[in-house]
Amino acid sequence: MKLLDGKKCAESLITDISRRVAAYVGSGLRKPHMTVILVGEHAPSESYVKSKITSCARAGFESALLRFPESITESELLAKIAEINADPATDGLIVQLPVPKHINPQNIINAIDPDKDIDGFHPTNFGRMTLGQKAFRPATAYGICKLLQFYEIPVKGKHCVVIGRSNIVGKPISIMLSNDFEIGNATVTLAHIETPRELLLDETRRADIIVVAVGIPGFITEDMVKDGVVMIDVGINRLDNGKLVGDVDFENVSKKCSWITPVPGGVGRMTVAALMVNTLMAYQNNFDLL
Ligand code: GUN
Repeated sequence: MKLLDGKKCAESLITDISRRVAAYVGSGLRKPHMTVILVGEHAPSESYVKSKITSCARAGFESALLRFPESITESELLAKIAEINADPATDGLIVQLPVPKHINPQNIINAIDPDKDIDGFHPTNFGRMTLGQKAFRPATAYGICKLLQFYEIPVKGKHCVVIGRSNIVGKPISIMLSNDFEIGNATVTLAHIETPRELLLDETRRADIIVVAVGIPGFITEDMVKDGVVMIDVGINRLDNGKLVGDVDFENVSKKCSWITPVPGGVGRMTVAALMVNTLMAYQNNFDLL
């Protein structure tokens, strides 16, 4: 079993970005700029946002964190987004999810200028990604592709099983792995909460690559996989004892894997790195650098 080291791959991507940014700044351009909106208090979001802001600094970007109280109304938030959309000093804008229950997340996503939508959640980017056109790609899915590429894991012609159909991870990674993208051309099964257990087991037991994003510790057990499987664990679950674990029973399943992502230090790192890749692309688009 070998580890797909997200920390190492993310560092390599971010170092490469920082070199490009240094060259742009050296030629007289301003730095790339990411704006992050955080509404209310949500412990996991605090930690994700912190790592996004830290990574911006390492990539040579400027960033701004705008915090709003839980009580902000949807129309107030939409007005703020419109203001940032119109600000030429911001290349990329993200609204950290989840937002409070009285705010419809789809209205928020739809309000972000697609040219600043570095999360790739806007229907324009999601549609373009699905069609195989140039787009901002959802960062976790894009990060998984970059990780597979970094370790030269063969994907073409393989049987991939994605478990979880969220718009953020499961749906986009299933599309990207099946498309003729930088990495892809796989045969993909998308399983989800309504997939009968027996069908799920049939699929996972013959899968060459499994991507699991269900948010349930220990969901993937050793009896569910074949020898040599490549396991991509997207789960980030905090146990009562404070330990961070994924969706895979790592200790037992890893013995059967050819490659596996650790948690932490796997996909989570890649999400942030891919967001930096998208931010650089937004900046390059702004300055016609591509
Ligand atoms: N919440 C969990 N993952 C994400 C993400 O990738 N982007 C945003 N904006 N919110 C999230």
